[in-house]
Amino acid sequence: MVKVRSSEITPEHAYRNRRLFLKSLGLLAGSALLSACAPVTSALTTAPSGGDTPAPGGDPGASAQTDELRDPLTPYEAVTNYNNYYEFSTNKEAVARLAAEFPTAPWAVTVGGLVRNPKTYGVDDLLEGFSQEERIYRLRCVEAWSMVIPWQGFRLADLLREVEPLAEAKYVRFESILARDVMPGQRQGWYEWPYVEGLRLDEAMHDLTILATGLYGKPLPNQNGAPLRLVAPWKYGFKSIKAIVKIDLVDSQPASLWMLAAPHEYGFYANVNPEVNHPRWSQASERRIGELGRRETLPFNGYADEVAALYAGMDLAENY
Ligand code: MTE
Repeated sequence: MVKVRSSEITPEHAYRNRRLFLKSLGLLAGSALLSACAPVTSALTTAPSGGDTPAPGGDPGASAQTDELRDPLTPYEAVTNYNNYYEFSTNKEAVARLAAEFPTAPWAVTVGGLVRNPKTYGVDDLLEGFSQEERIYRLRCVEAWSMVIPWQGFRLADLLREVEPLAEAKYVRFESILARDVMPGQRQGWYEWPYVEGLRLDEAMHDLTILATGLYGKPLPNQNGAPLRLVAPWKYGFKSIKAIVKIDLVDSQPASLWMLAAPHEYGFYANVNPEVNHPRWSQASERRIGELGRRETLPFNGYADEVAALYAGMDLAENY
């Protein structure tokens, strides 16, 4: 990959302002956490951020300024310039720039496996065929930082009902695009590409689980997983697989990219749990992007009333 110096892509004054802005959001300090998600030593680049400019007049298109816990939305600039997307880079601030030209149209998502009615959808089919709504959710990364994001999207359950899962279907397996030519991270051998994730069928059918097509009232930016990404807000962010091209109903638990990379660190469930630490750091607290200090992490990321029943009787330390 050809390294582009920041001065070649961003005028000096704009670059300085961006650094100041990101610093004010506490993003640059967060760089120390880079690669916490990465179980292998990753080559960190020093490329500065690029990508979207802040929306004029503040954040665009969200119906409220807070989530249901009255926590303020994370600014659009932060949501779209501090990203985990290993297909592009392990440097969160470089993802927006590196993903800027990623082609997301045309795009097809095949939904199949153990279903009565397998189907391939274009993005317009999904936007027009399923009712789109806004969901303001907390996103808690396993690296112990978090954001509050106003997504647009639709219920995964609506899509699954349309393809009619067979009785043997117990899990849903999601696959991201494999595109080595335009995704520089996939040319590195650190992980088994494509990115794969999974949910138990009842988790996938849960009302909180959505496929996101946008955020802040705009189409999903490339760096956030355009054109389609999963959001299951009670789970660590790595479950929210981006750039989905394949959804299969299966009868056994799928192995995700992170489970394969570091099975002792990342399990299948990945429910946010302040009582079960990551082997290398505590999960008891988190840094909300844009805030000073730390806040306590909530069980199931604050969605326990909605989802705890899914895990009744299960040992959550065992099923991490
Ligand atoms: N999906 C793919 N395909 N590749 C990735 O590297 N990173 C995951 C998840 N989905 C990732 C992915 C991780 S670790 C997190 S925390 C979230 O995306 C980050 O989403 P965001 O960049 O929109 O905040």
